Amino acid sequence: MQKYLDKLYIAMVGLPARGKSTVASKLKEGLKKENIKVRIFNNGDLRRKLLSRNSSKPDFYNPENKENARLRENIALINIENARKYLHNNGQVAILDATNVSLKRRSKIQSMLCEHPVLFVECINEDEEILKASITKKTEQPEFSRLNFQNAFESFEKRIFYYEHIAQHLDEERNYYILDSLNNQILKEKITENIFCNIQIRDLLVSDWVKNLFLVRHGESHFNLESRIGGDPELTPNGWSQAEALAGHFQNSNIPYIYTSTKKRTIQTAQPITRMQKNAKLLELKEFNEIDAGICECMSYEEIRKNMPQIFHARTCDKYNYIYPQGEGYVTLKERVDRGLKKAIYLSGIATYIMIIGHQAVNRMILAHFLYRRREDVPYIYTPQDRYFHIISTQSKKLFELKKY
Ligand code: F6P
Repeated sequence: MQKYLDKLYIAMVGLPARGKSTVASKLKEGLKKENIKVRIFNNGDLRRKLLSRNSSKPDFYNPENKENARLRENIALINIENARKYLHNNGQVAILDATNVSLKRRSKIQSMLCEHPVLFVECINEDEEILKASITKKTEQPEFSRLNFQNAFESFEKRIFYYEHIAQHLDEERNYYILDSLNNQILKEKITENIFCNIQIRDLLVSDWVKNLFLVRHGESHFNLESRIGGDPELTPNGWSQAEALAGHFQNSNIPYIYTSTKKRTIQTAQPITRMQKNAKLLELKEFNEIDAGICECMSYEEIRKNMPQIFHARTCDKYNYIYPQGEGYVTLKERVDRGLKKAIYLSGIATYIMIIGHQAVNRMILAHFLYRRREDVPYIYTPQDRYFHIISTQSKKLFELKKY
């Protein structure tokens, strides 16, 4: 059959909680900016609309249960048909957002949608911690509102288990990308047809999503007053006032995700702002904990200089590469902080604004991620406690502003 190459079906593929809907939204928003008419057809949304009855229970996904399998198949068929109609009218790209993990389902999609090419995009993410966090996010959906957290979590895990039974990776399909959705990395690709907007799509898949990142350092802590490093000190009264001022500064903004480390000084700094921003989700990531100063933890710089002059000297000579005995250095911190940043961006979906409340060394590494700096200059980036960085990072623009709050 003659295919029309000015239109495209994209079919998402992957187990639940692997970032498919985020990637689908990212493609939609990115293509819309190119004035392309694009729409998402989401099977989960349609299921919730048509079959609220028990469709959140794990057994609904048991492939052995023929009646439920038929109901799920019908939902898929309705969306396939809706996507077909959309391209038949004036739509240009129709995105089928569903698991589509079985070969059978995918060959059905390819045979039913034969008038334009189909591009499959499989999302893979086997990072245990991220998966746990993603499932936790799913349990907050209204369909789990009648279950407590533990039961909702287990129910969702069971759903994944059923899908795992029938899942097969992309291989024989005509066109596909297999994407590591945490690292925005294409792991495997095959394109055998002329794919409408392929260059834009490929670029969108590997790009970080548009983010307004507010990067804040925690308020003044008791250790800051004594120039002591590390530990887990609380905020001083001045630190609490800074936290209140931060909340006041952002009172008219809407920041859906606020990330901190697991240390008291960052969590306390976040308290007033999360009290004010009722819908904000506060997530503590250990990846954002301050550099571990090993045997120097809780010492002041002066004590290190006096009692451990060799450490003081070695660190002064090469601050970036120096690693504290039994601790970390900037050079080793990089991997951990980059991972935290990826995690935060992944968990924020397509939220446009996020805030990270971190520490001096951690914030320097985050800034270095966006800002070109020589490695040796990173440990000296200025990170005051009464100002924050507003980082706008899109494919076409990078902007940094140090603002007072
Ligand atoms: O002094 C506060 C602090 O966050 C310490 O906990 C940490 O060891 C230090 O800053 C990191 O900054 P620098 O690398 O300049 O010592």
